[in-house]
Amino acid sequence: MSDRETPPQAVGDVLFTAEQIAQRVAELGEAVRRDYTGRPLTIVAILRGSIAFLADLRTHLAEDVTIELIEASSYGDGTASNGQVSIRRYGTLDVADRDVLLLDDIADTGYTLVKVREAIEAMGPRSVRTCVLLDKPSRRRVDVALDYRGFEVPDVFVVGYGLDLAGRYRGLPYITRLDGD
Ligand code: IMP
Ligand code: MG
Repeated sequence: MSDRETPPQAVGDVLFTAEQIAQRVAELGEAVRRDYTGRPLTIVAILRGSIAFLADLRTHLAEDVTIELIEASSYGDGTASNGQVSIRRYGTLDVADRDVLLLDDIADTGYTLVKVREAIEAMGPRSVRTCVLLDKPSRRRVDVALDYRGFEVPDVFVVGYGLDLAGRYRGLPYITRLDGD
């Protein structure tokens, strides 16, 4: 290892296994599919943390779902957002007059969802709802409505299934806390 790299932290307790995640994502997908019957849905997935959730959730949705991508980054001390969220769109981001479901990996302070929601609302959608795999309510700084929510997590930093720490661990098939956190 070069001295420019920091050693990976050991992963601690598994919070949700791949099987538990698959089961919960299927339940969420079925709920979304039911609620949007007859209304073509546009998912706006917030990169990059939502990649695994998006890939699995869409397998439970109707054939006419469309997928748009947006990238959001927060600035803070590494594991906490300070409310400054920068948003970058990919391509056309066609949401005018659409029923939009904002998808993210986790609601922590809530800043990301609030800021992305504001940006999407300004584009004239027909409706906007939110869907997160994980909710960490103990850390909320701004009020955000979560219409679909997979699991509640305690105030620990979690990685895996798309969630990262400085770019690491996104590929883990399960969700775990980092040792020492
Ligand atoms: P918020 O803006 O503070 O709600 O945080 C949202 C973003 O921070 C999420 O989309 C995640 O990318 C990241 N994040 C928050 N908590 C965690 C965590 O425990 N593990 C990994 N990423 C997290
Ligand atoms: Mg994120």
